[in-house]
Amino acid sequence: MSYEMILVETQGHVGVIRLNRPKALNALNDQLMDELGAALVQFDGDADIGCIVLTGSDKAFAAGADIAAMANYSFMDAYKGDYITRNWEQIRKIRKPVIAAVAGYALGGGCELAMMCDFIIAAENAKFGQPEIKLGTIPGAGGTQRLPRAVSKAKAMDMCLTARMMDAAEAERAGLVSRVVPLEKLFDEAMAAATVISAMSLPTVMMIKESVNRAYELTLSEGVLFERRMFHSTFALEDQKEGMKAFIEKRLPAFRGI
Ligand code: HXC
Repeated sequence: MSYEMILVETQGHVGVIRLNRPKALNALNDQLMDELGAALVQFDGDADIGCIVLTGSDKAFAAGADIAAMANYSFMDAYKGDYITRNWEQIRKIRKPVIAAVAGYALGGGCELAMMCDFIIAAENAKFGQPEIKLGTIPGAGGTQRLPRAVSKAKAMDMCLTARMMDAAEAERAGLVSRVVPLEKLFDEAMAAATVISAMSLPTVMMIKESVNRAYELTLSEGVLFERRMFHSTFALEDQKEGMKAFIEKRLPAFRGI
């Protein structure tokens, strides 16, 4: 499939998707989200890919949903057509890890998209925000739900109600991002993390992603039970035999994803 609003490439065992609507600061419209969903599904199904990096430009990861595209929607357009958010859930169905490499603005839907990824590595110039309130609307792709879980209710309320942006340093302190690096190192840092992950046993990578995500959805005892069952099932993997044998033999493991 050829894409107009994203750039897609493979580097080693890492799939790279770059949002590419520079004139609109990567504002997210239906076409872009369709393309993003298709590229993610393709990488998810590609046996050669172990991890995905999603990034934007130096100025913007994404400045939100496309305001011009939705400005004149009626309620029925938005609700019945499920416009704007229709294709956003695709990213949650991806079973391989997706790392967001965020530089510049990650606002509104851009912040929500970054939060849908498995973790965020930020450049020092990153700015996160949920400014929908200034447009007379509210976050619509999980901002009011994922932000409090990531940064606390106090900071999420502050950001959603005042529309203030959070810089990279504050985002790291608050737990929204896992690392902050200089802008010029952002892509390499994300690729290095993705390369490390893609050298691991893919089934264990997928089980960890599933298990950590359960921490959002389940009670602690249910989550711990889920994790334990996943843990038990790793003993059916050849990669578990290889990983533990390699440790004992003081050598690097050669995982085969089985
Ligand atoms: C459409 C956008 C856009 C957006 C920027 N642009 N953000 N177009 N939708 N969300 C366009 C501008 O219109 C402009 O186009 C060009 O990108 C450059 O933007 P400027 O404003 O000139 O750049 P700058 O002065 O550097 O300001 C950057 C900015 C500002 C602070 C990020 O653009 C801004 O506030 N953008 C809107 C942020 C926002 O409110 N996001 C939330 C959207 S609602 P032209 O043609 O004039 O050059 C949302 C709901 C999600 O996301 C719902 C879930 C699906």
